[in-house]
Amino acid sequence: MLNKKDILGLKDMTKEEILEILETAKEMKTRIDDSSKRIDEIKGCSIVSLFYENSTRTRTSFENATKFLGANQVNIAVGSSSVAKGESMYDTVKTLESIKNGIVVIRHSMAGTPNYIAKKVDAHIVNAGDGQHEHPTQALLDMLTMRRHFGKIDGLTVAIIGDIKYSRVARSNIFGLLTMGAKVKLFGIKTLMPKGIEEMGATICNSVEEAIQGSDVVMGLRIQLERQTSGQFPTTKEYFAEYGITMDRMKLANENAIIMHPAPVNRGVEISGEAVDSDISRIFDQVTNGLAVRMAVIKLLAEGK
Ligand code: CP
Repeated sequence: MLNKKDILGLKDMTKEEILEILETAKEMKTRIDDSSKRIDEIKGCSIVSLFYENSTRTRTSFENATKFLGANQVNIAVGSSSVAKGESMYDTVKTLESIKNGIVVIRHSMAGTPNYIAKKVDAHIVNAGDGQHEHPTQALLDMLTMRRHFGKIDGLTVAIIGDIKYSRVARSNIFGLLTMGAKVKLFGIKTLMPKGIEEMGATICNSVEEAIQGSDVVMGLRIQLERQTSGQFPTTKEYFAEYGITMDRMKLANENAIIMHPAPVNRGVEISGEAVDSDISRIFDQVTNGLAVRMAVIKLLAEGK
């Protein structure tokens, strides 16, 4: 049984906990596809989104997940809230808790912010991405996508390619996939690989081809130009030519392999537009699966499990 107050990351989540969320997400998927199966069992529960960084997928899917479960959704526009008057993060969340918001979904550019707040309030905190640290619901929806395609995660080989250094998605996926018994291969150019990454238990590759060769899942990561403080590769055109995920390079992957990417995607930088739109791409399925995973997380927390 999932016995957690908060969902902060996959580093400390057990295989059983991940499985419970994925199994609940599977049930949620049937409710998304069939509106007659929607049950308002967490009616009365109020969930608030507090996003200090931009988002399209995560924020919208949390909002829709809440509505599909029959709960109340409150959205704080940070720029027009009292945060703009200098109110602290703690005072903001404590205020939201005081007006009966039981779950607070937080995205922040500073790593560790959701963990810090979770220790100080009774409300359930869900990390919707904190700096370069973790993005647990993204990795959970990625694993749901793999499970739906392959029927399992155990034994899969997953190549994660691109901006590993600045990627919270990479970190959460490495933790989650290794816990679930997958093999993880990583490739990024030297300036986009964090020091000590090999200690996490993934296999480090020397080329994009080596990473794709023999993989079941090829996951591209966005080149996060906004997090880079200095030029860390020559030009986006040269980067794509040398390291981009293309349909030609995908011939090295296993039969039945799929392409994934957390998005937003930089077409023609880390991945070709042709690969994004191809039959083996699961990029838009990932977004749909995000709705089911976020419904599962809200339901399990709201039920106090
Ligand atoms: N993948 C992801 O987190 O997307 P958003 O930034 O749009 O939420």
